[in-house]
Amino acid sequence: MKKGLFITFEGADGCGKTTQLNLLSDYLKNKRDVIITREPGAKGLGEKLREILLNYDGDIAPQCESFLFLADRAQHIEQIVKPAVSEGKIVLCDRHTDSTVAYQGYGRGLNLEEIHYLNTLATGGLKPDLTVVFDVDIETSLSRVGSEKDRMEAAGIDFFNRVRNGYLEIAKQEPQRVKVIDAAKSIDEVFNDLLKLVTPLI
Ligand code: TMP
Repeated sequence: MKKGLFITFEGADGCGKTTQLNLLSDYLKNKRDVIITREPGAKGLGEKLREILLNYDGDIAPQCESFLFLADRAQHIEQIVKPAVSEGKIVLCDRHTDSTVAYQGYGRGLNLEEIHYLNTLATGGLKPDLTVVFDVDIETSLSRVGSEKDRMEAAGIDFFNRVRNGYLEIAKQEPQRVKVIDAAKSIDEVFNDLLKLVTPLI
């Protein structure tokens, strides 16, 4: 059996990561057993948490928001990611722990050490083999989101600039695991850059 792989896709809303994840899944599916999944809201309970996180119309305190993302993560890791990786599958995951660091840590201003600790609790210490951050300036990424924004997307440009800088900081701190791709390029060019990162692992 081939070794399982866990690859996470990260970046600010509108960065194009979901398009790239789907392209990679199509590219890999004749070669390896691949699943695509996401946080928050892969299935079942997670979908209910996603609905609250993205569409609840009252206030959600930043700590509460973090715990809801982490609750989704704990369930997702146990139910989907760990079993698939241990069966030798390639798991392509749209957002994971670095989203909480970038959005709730850098974006909302919560304590980074506490978030790292909570992430470790939620994942049981499982780490992605590769994390790709799709980096693009926030004016461009938010324009891709369009005018119908969910609760997170409506957080404003200053928030998203902090999120973007957060991702770049994460990449500096963990250069082995976290790679940054310039997502201002065309879809094909970005995909080529993505393949260069993934091919050596498969
Ligand atoms: P998306 O699935 O369209 O990317 O939307 C998920 C939203 O939730 C996005 O705005 C990022 C946000 N998010 C966090 O703020 N923290 C997290 O830990 C995760 C997983 C997502």
